[in-house]
Amino acid sequence: MRLGKKKGIVGLDIGSSAIKLVELKAGKNGKYSLLHAGHAPLSPEAIVEGTVMDSSLVVEVAQRLVQEQGVKNPGFGVSLSGISVAIRKISVPAMSEAELAESIHWEAEQYLPFDVNEVKLDYVPLGGDGDTMDVLLVAAKKDRIADYTGIVSQLGKVPALVDVDVFALQNAYELNYGETAGKVLALVNIGAHIMNVNILARGASVFWRDIVFGGNAYTEAIQRELNLTREQAEAVKTGEQLGDHTPQTILGVLNGVSEDLAAELQKTFEFFYTTSSHDHVEEIALAGGACQVLNLDGVLRERLGARVEVMNPFREIAYSESQFPPEWLNRHAPSMAVAVGMALRTAGD
Ligand SMILES: Nc1ncnc2c1ncn2[C@@H]1O[C@H](COP(=O)(O)OP(=O)(O)OP(=O)(O)O)[C@@H](O)[C@H]1O
Ligand SMILES: [Mg+2]
Repeated sequence: MRLGKKKGIVGLDIGSSAIKLVELKAGKNGKYSLLHAGHAPLSPEAIVEGTVMDSSLVVEVAQRLVQEQGVKNPGFGVSLSGISVAIRKISVPAMSEAELAESIHWEAEQYLPFDVNEVKLDYVPLGGDGDTMDVLLVAAKKDRIADYTGIVSQLGKVPALVDVDVFALQNAYELNYGETAGKVLALVNIGAHIMNVNILARGASVFWRDIVFGGNAYTEAIQRELNLTREQAEAVKTGEQLGDHTPQTILGVLNGVSEDLAAELQKTFEFFYTTSSHDHVEEIALAGGACQVLNLDGVLRERLGARVEVMNPFREIAYSESQFPPEWLNRHAPSMAVAVGMALRTAGD
């Protein structure tokens, strides 16, 4: 629930292939409406393997989006994923909030793959059984935070929130589809470079993983197997252009990559089963631009034996069809889930 005084923020999802911007307006009835939504492709040299290589290019594209949308809100949120973030559920001796605040750095040191001095830590006590308590620990590399918040500052805006893709994804899902209690559900956001996985059980998030696999793998396979340039392969992948190739040939290449993606996901699910009492992911909700690859949902359904749906992050959000043509919004909706999730947060959350 949003309190009257809290300020909403603009969600700016700086992906390696495109920048997405979303701002929502919270209504009195608890419903949201869409104030701004923008999508702008980013050239592949700007962000490489999750690292900002050309920040002026990123700023230029983001600035265009901000101006085009006429965004007035100064507070912006950005989101991180991949190797610069670690999320762990840890178990510590039961202690007071103050004791936890004092010892969390020391606790974190034992569980994190990073030097604690190089990360910003956040944590949420999750309750416990008397002797021990669970704590959700989130660490993000300070240099990576600075890269992304620096982009916001260069836009003349204020970095009001740093989110993590898997959590933003979950917020977007819960707004649109409600509580998930009673089923084991995997939210899977497939971008260009990375796939974010968040598994929910009994209504709570229990497992997180970022896997380096995404739309780029399809583009590269098409380039290689059909001997095309990156631009041509990108067009073929999205069904815009076939060239001399039959739909069957293209589907064959796409299915091959989808099988590899399914295998990666299967490995992740099996690892999750070893860490929990669950042994089956019943449903997969897909997001991210690359979840639209032809027949990927079919391959996942078959390989993983789960129901597979594509989530619509605007399902419960009201919008004006003259401002946001439905054809445009539907095309970009899958890739905007993270931006929607961030836009649901408030400054300083
Ligand atoms: N209709 C479509 N069919 C297949 N692939 C698509 C389609 N539309 C977009 N894509 C692919 O989706 C990917 C972009 O998705 P998204 O915007 O979620 O990624 P990103 O946030 O830029 O990447 P990352 O988070 O991995 O850095 C690209 O690989 C793009 O080619
Ligand atoms: Mg992304």
